[in-house]
Amino acid sequence: MEVILIGFMGSGKTTVSKILAEKLNKTVVDMDQAIVESEKRSISEIFEDEGEEYFRKIEHEILLRVLRTHDGILATGGGTPLRIDNQQILKKCDVPVILLEASSETTYSRIKADSGRPLANGLSAKQLESVKRQRVQSYNSCADYKIITDDLTPEMVVSKVLAFVSSWNSKVKKHKCS
Ligand code: S3P
Repeated sequence: MEVILIGFMGSGKTTVSKILAEKLNKTVVDMDQAIVESEKRSISEIFEDEGEEYFRKIEHEILLRVLRTHDGILATGGGTPLRIDNQQILKKCDVPVILLEASSETTYSRIKADSGRPLANGLSAKQLESVKRQRVQSYNSCADYKIITDDLTPEMVVSKVLAFVSSWNSKVKKHKCS
């Protein structure tokens, strides 16, 4: 693995991961996509049919599998760092974990029209902000570097990621992911 992106829904993980993949000539695993492929149903259907706990269990299993097998970029789901065991896995990983951050206003404007996120559907800007606030600690606890994306284009975010990865690679490594 080269880079792991974490962050709240709408923080730009998927967009940034695709550009990064091109620049690094690597492939991306998008956690949500991997879950959908593995379960053969949409994220909304999984939440509806099985509930959040089941979704988090699958998400955890896929995180473990991807870290073992994938050499490239990982775009996690917005809720991946919520489980303590996932936080521990991300913390001890030798791969840079980069947190993409955006203000609540930016986040709301990016995701309000998308109905594919069961935990954000129908939430007001204020409610979304409250969910986001509850997660700050989980995100910060496993991030090696944070980028505030509100005023940056995806390409500018990618440049910052690449600069950090380059300095990371020249420093002492942490323990292996797997
Ligand atoms: C979730 C974020 C989503 C997806 C699911 C739950 C969350 O991923 O995994 O809807 O709890 O924040 P994105 O961050 O890619 O939207």
